[in-house]
Amino acid sequence: METYGELHRAILNNIPDQAWLKDTESRYVLVNEAFVTACGRTEQEIIGSTPDKVWPSELGKVYLSTDRAALDGGVRRRYEETRQGADGTLRWFDTVKMPLRDDDGRVVGTVGISRDITDLKRSQTELLDSRSQLRQLSAYLQSIREAERTRISRELHDELGQLLSGLRLGLNYLQTQASATTPEQAGHLQMLKHLVDATMDAVHRIASDLRPAVLDELGLHAALEWLTESFTQRNGVPCELHLAMPEELARSIDAERSTAIFRIVQEALTNVSRHAQASRAVVEIHACDDHCLLSIADDGCGMDTSRAAGSGSLGLLGMRERALMLDGQLSVESRPGHGTRVAARIPLHHTAVAATAGARQ
Ligand SMILES: Nc1ncnc2c1ncn2[C@@H]1O[C@H](COP(=O)(O)OP(=O)(O)OP(=O)(O)O)[C@@H](O)[C@H]1O
Ligand SMILES: [Mg+2]
Repeated sequence: METYGELHRAILNNIPDQAWLKDTESRYVLVNEAFVTACGRTEQEIIGSTPDKVWPSELGKVYLSTDRAALDGGVRRRYEETRQGADGTLRWFDTVKMPLRDDDGRVVGTVGISRDITDLKRSQTELLDSRSQLRQLSAYLQSIREAERTRISRELHDELGQLLSGLRLGLNYLQTQASATTPEQAGHLQMLKHLVDATMDAVHRIASDLRPAVLDELGLHAALEWLTESFTQRNGVPCELHLAMPEELARSIDAERSTAIFRIVQEALTNVSRHAQASRAVVEIHACDDHCLLSIADDGCGMDTSRAAGSGSLGLLGMRERALMLDGQLSVESRPGHGTRVAARIPLHHTAVAATAGARQ
């Protein structure tokens, strides 16, 4: 193997990564200062020795086999490993090994570089932890919001609804006292009755928009039917619903999941009415093994998905988060002029995987 001059040595010693050269028998031919420090032996002890003599024996055996793999495979190999650093703490390394060839292309040894990536790994872990905490916080806030909406919706429906019904009955009674009223008063009474009816309708609509009672009372199937029908009525755009999920299965889904599915469809349909200028929308739900596949598609103007992602809007982000919280996935397929399709895959039941998902995402 050729000799290495001062220039090579100076370059090698100035890189912070550990670097080495070995011959085909895994004997160290050249090592840099970072390697010597990490190894905790003198350069004289290292040169001419094999990894099993230089590193703790288990580690040495691993290095002998990865050397062999690089020599036999003839290609570059990269892997992450852990080992004790000079200070005794466990550290992460990103290691690259590749075969070294002579002018005739024959493999004459291996060259390797090992970079300490402990800080990077720590930052990655912290980032994942903080993302998981944010997701948990978001799930908690969603559940509080849902509970609050349910409470306000019930109070509107029950309390205000009762009072308005009382008012309506009172007006009916007054109307029956025809002899006691002038024609002008009768006209006023009729007008008041219309006003009370309109107010009752508005209270009913607001309460349903906050949280449709049908979702709690009759379940997901009925709630989706209500949602797609009211979409058609309000927007004048036909919305088809294709449900391929047995009703018993839909009933067995827990409240958290059915709420998430309902809210994803609702948010996607709100986007269709606000942005798509579509002539048709189709909502499809399939039960597939232990998952449910959702699709909300329109034939409207479409969008550039790369722009929508960074627009600062929260609708698409919220839908995706709802799916991720349940260990599901959500994607948006769209192109300008070619409509939009929101597709989601949601596990139907709570799994151990879902329980630990927060820690992984
Ligand atoms: N079905 C759709 N058709 C066309 N464009 C859409 C559709 N859905 C979303 N978009 C585009 O993607 C953008 C982001 O949607 P997103 O729901 O995140 O936010 P938003 O609807 O603008 O506001 P909000 O946060 O109130 O939901 C929209 O502003 C719109 O330009
Ligand atoms: Mg939106």
